[in-house]
Amino acid sequence: MVSFTSAAVLLATAGIALAAPAPIPTAAAKLEDRATTCTFKSAASVSKSKTSCATIVLNNIVVPSGTSLDLSGLTKGTHVIFEGTTSFGYEEWSGPLVKLGGTDITVTAASGAYLKGDGARWWDGKGSNGGKTKPNFFAIEKLVSSTITGLYFQNSPRQVMSINDATTVTISDITINNEAGNTGDTSTAATNTDAFDIASSTGVTITGANVSNQDDCLAINSGTDITFTKSTCTGGHGLSIGSVGGRTDNTVKSITISSSTVTNSQNAVRVKTNSGTTGTISDVTYSDISFSGITKYGIVVEQDYLNGGATGIPTSGVPITGLTLSNVKGTVTSAGTNVYLLCASGACSSWKWSDVSSTGGKTSSKCKNIPSGSGAKC
Ligand SMILES: *[C@@H]1O[C@H](CO)[C@@H](O)[C@H](O)[C@H]1NC(C)=O
Repeated sequence: MVSFTSAAVLLATAGIALAAPAPIPTAAAKLEDRATTCTFKSAASVSKSKTSCATIVLNNIVVPSGTSLDLSGLTKGTHVIFEGTTSFGYEEWSGPLVKLGGTDITVTAASGAYLKGDGARWWDGKGSNGGKTKPNFFAIEKLVSSTITGLYFQNSPRQVMSINDATTVTISDITINNEAGNTGDTSTAATNTDAFDIASSTGVTITGANVSNQDDCLAINSGTDITFTKSTCTGGHGLSIGSVGGRTDNTVKSITISSSTVTNSQNAVRVKTNSGTTGTISDVTYSDISFSGITKYGIVVEQDYLNGGATGIPTSGVPITGLTLSNVKGTVTSAGTNVYLLCASGACSSWKWSDVSSTGGKTSSKCKNIPSGSGAKC
């Protein structure tokens, strides 16, 4: 016959091992636990104990290959601090290297903290369209009323911050430095390294980002009340909405992209929709945008995207309504095109463009259905 004490121990042990309902802590005990700062040196201990820490310090974590540094489902109010270098083992897998979710979460970085993807181990010029399977870097899922400040991402294998199902989230002063991916060799270059991909989110603000990458600096596939401001983008594909259509969520509404600079990129301002699909893009404003060294299109709006390419035949299923450009100015290289606007009949309306100039490149002769009286022109 076991004593009362050993039975309790056995029960407790079984409770953990078999994941039976855990004893409910009293409010006082819970508060006391939560007052702790937990300093973690391994990713495994983070997964195990994260929900009982008020502050999580990630100190020089080396994340094992093929696993995520799992900061999903954090307890409300948790503060996460990246400290030192966070690095990741190599494996061909789709990632993410880090996941984050919770309510009232604050994520910051200690001075000199880096998240190092060491993407060169995967880069093969094929990005997320073939070759080695590459992990995306930092996946935000179900993050509510939270802030992320000051993270420095280096050399991402492919897409960097993927923001899904976020509500009222501010992301400020992020550096994405993927410059080493510009190898000049198609068999070792980084591609599809989008900086910020946003879907199905409401109330996301990105401010003070400094991005050097090889794909969209910003890509909004769906979402409402999204702001991107006071940022710089270089090396990539520009500030993009889309391509919209053909996914589960195809609504883009109330977007402000402002006070930012795009240099040495394929495009500066880009809005694209997928051919033969449905959805809506409305109330999108680009203001105070300057650009230079643009190689493809200074400003492009097209409703003809299909499988990552353009068909040249616009379709009307994703109308673009209320596209405002104000003080959007810059230069395109001589091989590029200043402005390209390809709308299906009646599918672009209520546009308002003022103080827009894109020069140095070719004038397109293929523009179609530009809303009249909008000030937009090719
Ligand atoms: C942006 O980041 C690069 C490194 O990618 C750095 O050299 C540069 O100083 C940063 N610019 C600003 C304005 O912080």
